[in-house]
Amino acid sequence: MNAEVRVQVDLGERSYDIVIGPGLLDRIGLMLASQGWEADSPGLVVTDRNVAKFGYADRVASSLRAAGFQTSIALVEPGESAKCLEVAKTLYDAAFDASLDRKSMIFAVGGGVVGDLAGFVAATYMRGIAWIQVPTTILAHDSSVGGKVGINHPRGKNMIGAFHQPSAVLFDTSVLRTLPDREVRSGLAEVVKHAAIWDEDFFSWLEVHVPQILALQDSALSGILAKGCQIKAAVVSRDERESGMRAILNFGHTLGHALETLSGYRGITHGEAVAIGMVFAAALSEELGMCAAGVKERLEHLLLAFGLPVRIPKELAEPEILQCMLHDKKAVGGHLTFVLIEKIGRVRIVKNVDAAAVLRVLERLREA
Ligand code: NAD
Ligand code: GLY
Repeated sequence: MNAEVRVQVDLGERSYDIVIGPGLLDRIGLMLASQGWEADSPGLVVTDRNVAKFGYADRVASSLRAAGFQTSIALVEPGESAKCLEVAKTLYDAAFDASLDRKSMIFAVGGGVVGDLAGFVAATYMRGIAWIQVPTTILAHDSSVGGKVGINHPRGKNMIGAFHQPSAVLFDTSVLRTLPDREVRSGLAEVVKHAAIWDEDFFSWLEVHVPQILALQDSALSGILAKGCQIKAAVVSRDERESGMRAILNFGHTLGHALETLSGYRGITHGEAVAIGMVFAAALSEELGMCAAGVKERLEHLLLAFGLPVRIPKELAEPEILQCMLHDKKAVGGHLTFVLIEKIGRVRIVKNVDAAAVLRVLERLREA
């Protein structure tokens, strides 16, 4: 991709742009200076040790320093287990060490883990300071948009958190070249989710462009990121704090979060868990007579083409999974809520889903 793509997240005074394009890391300082960000207050770049190895955080910090902004870097360990209170505390310490003040800005340079964690720290340090997302994974086209920030509790994924919109999302597509293959595939699960919940044409386009996408061809990659961000921005702009329809973005997540929690936040990626969760949600929709035959097969076929898992790991027992899903944020008063699918491109939030039907489908979708 040669030109930048801009997508606006329309949220009144909290509106911001998502900028997608190559080479943004080295231009962040100038971009902020041109928008009038003042150099009086220090900034903090947060990244994980994997991402740091590729020099991405250093490049952001250098760009900021070159534009006159005092900037430090704080490192966390890579992986989902860093999304916890203990690691958040190390970042509060880093914020004190760097003398961040109310006008300071935090830069989250990394995947969804760094974004959710650094965003949570930005939301809570001094009751909230500004922050910018600099996503470095495909999956983060989803996590960087919409302002959901948070950490995990050992008993539940993303259970501690806030809504805190970033001031901008600057997505440098050139960093995706160093993503491990498994993380590429994991990120594609959220792309499939955006298509499945909102846009059948996009879903059909994905079905015929699998090789180009897996080869990370520039135009295919920028196309799916822009489209995914547009869909996410459209949903978030309509319902910022999930009082209703934003919950459709959780398609596949009720089971997905349970699988991640029960795996101790190791061994399964977020995208893999969501892939299994979407197939489960489609199978449950069929079981409840909500969608035509063939929807689950189409979804499953595309996820398999992207090399994603579609069956529940055999070591997890159904009653345990059900119990965990009852603690999902969408569950109210001990009743299960799911995002179910009617057709590709249209989903519905369904409350009080029958636990016996859920158990039947869980059993059917277990790994052999
Ligand atoms: P991640 O942040 O753990 O990144 C995956 C792995 O890739 C890590 O090991 C990381 O170090 C490495 N990595 C990142 N960028 C790299 C690069 N350019 N080159 C090489 N290696 C790189 O995981 P993720 O899949 O990006 O994000 C998953 C998280 O996002 C989950 O915690 C999930 O709950 C969260 N999420 C949040 C939202 C939201 O709205 N806030 C939405 C979806 C997902
Ligand atoms: N990933 C769910 C949301 O952003 O609302």
